[in-house]
Amino acid sequence: MIIALNNKSNLDKNEFKNYIKKLYQINTTHKLIVCPSFLNISSVDSKKIILGAQDVSAYGQGPHTGEVSAPQLKSYGVSCVIVGHSERREEKLETDDEIRQKVKNCLSSKMAPILCVGETLKERDKNLVTKVLRKELTAATKGLTEDEKSHIVIAYEPIWSIGTGVTPTNDQIKSVITMIKGMLPHCKVLYGGSVTEENIDTLKEIKEIDGYLIGGLSLKPEKLMEFLNKIK
Ligand code: 13P
Repeated sequence: MIIALNNKSNLDKNEFKNYIKKLYQINTTHKLIVCPSFLNISSVDSKKIILGAQDVSAYGQGPHTGEVSAPQLKSYGVSCVIVGHSERREEKLETDDEIRQKVKNCLSSKMAPILCVGETLKERDKNLVTKVLRKELTAATKGLTEDEKSHIVIAYEPIWSIGTGVTPTNDQIKSVITMIKGMLPHCKVLYGGSVTEENIDTLKEIKEIDGYLIGGLSLKPEKLMEFLNKIK
């Protein structure tokens, strides 16, 4: 399984040094990917753990102050990048066009985009889940070849479940993942949103899931180990 750890804007320089040492010690058969903030990326030995990033510039290398380009990330050993996280769609007003460009930039630099999609609670209540996700997926993959699409990992993250402690039912997750796989049959699909070492007992019954995108739990290596042991 793919287990991607989204540290978000957490862990300062020293906290991260202690943290990454603990992650190196985790012995797991799963694909464990750490996605630190940009500042902590250079502190990771990408021979010891798979290295990811939380974002990438929609531009290329050049005069784009404050941006981090795909070739720069690649040169630090980054092999996959979270793209289109709902927090960026909301706080940074990221558009579908920017997200598509980011996906393309990852693919050009031979990094796998972890493309996040998900609905708000209002959209779920109005029965708009399929419509919202189809729109996000179509926009982000427009113009890509089937081979390019196959390198994308999709993360289904219902916005109402992120950091709330609330998760959809297994049937709800299963139905969305099945829909995504119908649209993009060669893509791996992760679930993200309030995943813990406790609710994994229930979530792991969903056979359609290829892995998890983890926020809060990613910051607690001991609990993360407990989680990994449960999905052996
Ligand atoms: P939580 O696991 O903290 O809910 O965050 C999920 C997430 O946004 C991962 O990208």
